Amino acid sequence: MARERTFSILKPDATERNLTGAINAMIEQAGLRIVAQKRVRITKEQAERFYAVHKERPFFGELVAFMISGPVVVQVLEGENAISKYREVMGATDPAKAAANTIRKVHARSIGENSVHGSDAPDTAEREIAQFFSENEIVG
Ligand code: CMP
Repeated sequence: MARERTFSILKPDATERNLTGAINAMIEQAGLRIVAQKRVRITKEQAERFYAVHKERPFFGELVAFMISGPVVVQVLEGENAISKYREVMGATDPAKAAANTIRKVHARSIGENSVHGSDAPDTAEREIAQFFSENEIVG
């Protein structure tokens, strides 16, 4: 399997609790390289665009409001099978269902405030990375 890139967000519940370093350590220990990273406040328009696939879901308004409630850290992660590897490291969306020692099991507060986002497929990874980074900001 080839080297891959995936897009990651450390969400406002993580930055609020100073968990950037702890989560980055879990990412790096899994063999993923953080090849781009910035701490930003995203706008409502950016959040709505990012989560457009969920716009008919009942939790969409809550999700957007949460994602703009504080700073986030957007990242590009690189490595072998980065997309599926990061999904393993994150654990299930609902922390109650996440496996032991995953980021969400260890740190997430709830299904909504679940500390991290990771791309689910190569096409979404490419689109999500392009929403927040230009190619010259990614240093592998
Ligand atoms: P994420 O991987 O960022 O992708 C979509 C997000 O929607 C998901 O993580 C959750 O944080 C959020 N989400 C999914 N289900 C619910 C729910 N029932 N209530 C609130 N947020 C949800």
